[in-house]
Amino acid sequence: MKLIYQSGKSGRTGAVLPSLDVPQSSAVPSVLRRSSTAGLPEVSELETVRHFTNLSRRNMSVDTHFYPLGSCTMKYNPKFHEKVVRMPGFAELHPLLPQLRHGGTLTQGALTVLYETERMLSDVLGFAQTTMQPMAGAHGELTGVMLIAACHKARKDFARKVMLIPDAAHGTNPASATVAGYTTKVVPSDPDGNVDLAALKELLSPEVAGIMLTCPNTLGLFDPNVKEICSLVHGAGGLCYCDGANFNAIVGRLRPGDVGFDVMHVNIHKTFSTPHGGGGPGSGPVGVCEKLVPFLPVSRVVRRNDGTCALEYNYPESIGYIAPFYGNFGIILRAYAYLLTLGRKGLVRVSENAVLNANYIAAALDGIYDRKYKRTCMHECVFSATKQVERGVHALDIAKALIDRGIHPPTIYFPLIVPEALMIEPTETESREEIDLFIAAMKEIAELAEKDPERIRECPLTTPVKRLDETAAARKPDLSYPS
Ligand SMILES: Cc1ncc(COP(=O)(O)O)c(C=O)c1O
Repeated sequence: MKLIYQSGKSGRTGAVLPSLDVPQSSAVPSVLRRSSTAGLPEVSELETVRHFTNLSRRNMSVDTHFYPLGSCTMKYNPKFHEKVVRMPGFAELHPLLPQLRHGGTLTQGALTVLYETERMLSDVLGFAQTTMQPMAGAHGELTGVMLIAACHKARKDFARKVMLIPDAAHGTNPASATVAGYTTKVVPSDPDGNVDLAALKELLSPEVAGIMLTCPNTLGLFDPNVKEICSLVHGAGGLCYCDGANFNAIVGRLRPGDVGFDVMHVNIHKTFSTPHGGGGPGSGPVGVCEKLVPFLPVSRVVRRNDGTCALEYNYPESIGYIAPFYGNFGIILRAYAYLLTLGRKGLVRVSENAVLNANYIAAALDGIYDRKYKRTCMHECVFSATKQVERGVHALDIAKALIDRGIHPPTIYFPLIVPEALMIEPTETESREEIDLFIAAMKEIAELAEKDPERIRECPLTTPVKRLDETAAARKPDLSYPS
């Protein structure tokens, strides 16, 4: 496929612009004036449309393919949400528009959305308040750990320098704790995939600031000791952080604030329907219990006695700014639409069906692929390709073979404690027929791996590019294009 710079012809254009009606000499200072052309592609509108349409068809997305990428909750985002975010009253708002007086009515709609989403999230998470500012799950983690640090500091407890993190955790957990100034200690999992309670007790000390626990965990399992873990950490003076990336498994059925967590982020771009493939956009609101409220970042959205909503900044104990203006408003608005559309009963059905679908796959593929933890799973089931490795076929090869069968691969590089992991998250938005097709594809791949492993190792055969050196692609990207 050609680059857009290689298409078109000199002088061709897809837009008709009005002629400049300001003298260039007065409008643009000479230092800012360009001495050569901008070097933009010269293409017609049709060439542009074809280029980008064809480019998009080389990718996989939830709109085009089954996308069971574990830990990412790539659920379908209803098109109605797109309609809502494109309403001109929202889409054309400028973040600097005044909030209250002098035309404040222009922003009251957006502020009300922000306020009401904050209230609904606090309710479903079981917390006193929620900051809507963080721009992703990892950003929420950093915010949450900074809140824990602010709380210890306010109590003049300066000795707490350690954050405990289970070995099943996502890499962003230790990264966030480190960026917030903590050293991290790993809590091992027990043979059932739960936190090893004896090991946790050993690690607890007056140096421990808290624990970051993913609930349910990244093995797709619900730790039945979660309440005990929280009370053990509290007993040692620490605070409990819940990584809510897997909230889809429990939404509407369990409120993390009720089982002892003090602070939690929720990836609303996962649970509340804006799948975040390709790295964004995201939003990771952080809910907190009463004692952490004073430290929440600014701005905070409040509703005043006269019914108007506003962003407030005057909180002396706040950790300060972590993001400007309204947070990632488009994602928050989609979550608002999602929450209102589903209501309480709808949210319960989300988690029930997400868990049912994952267990359906777990049962259908059990024995064909190894499962390290043979328990009822939550919203995702984690297999291991250890059996296939005996025939020289790795999880990576299975992932590539799935692409050839029109299916986005599951997560394979994580969780780290499962060798050759295949972390499958079907979500509640897929039909049984689609899931059956996936199961059939996985069975066929396992059969072929047994009989003719080379056929799996040579996949993918249907993609525009075959196997890439993924490390080099990330570390030494070739961003040049032939002129
Ligand atoms: C368990 C877990 N925690 C945290 C994150 C980070 O979330 P985000 O990608 O929104 O920064 C992820 C991302 O997939 C995750 O799976």
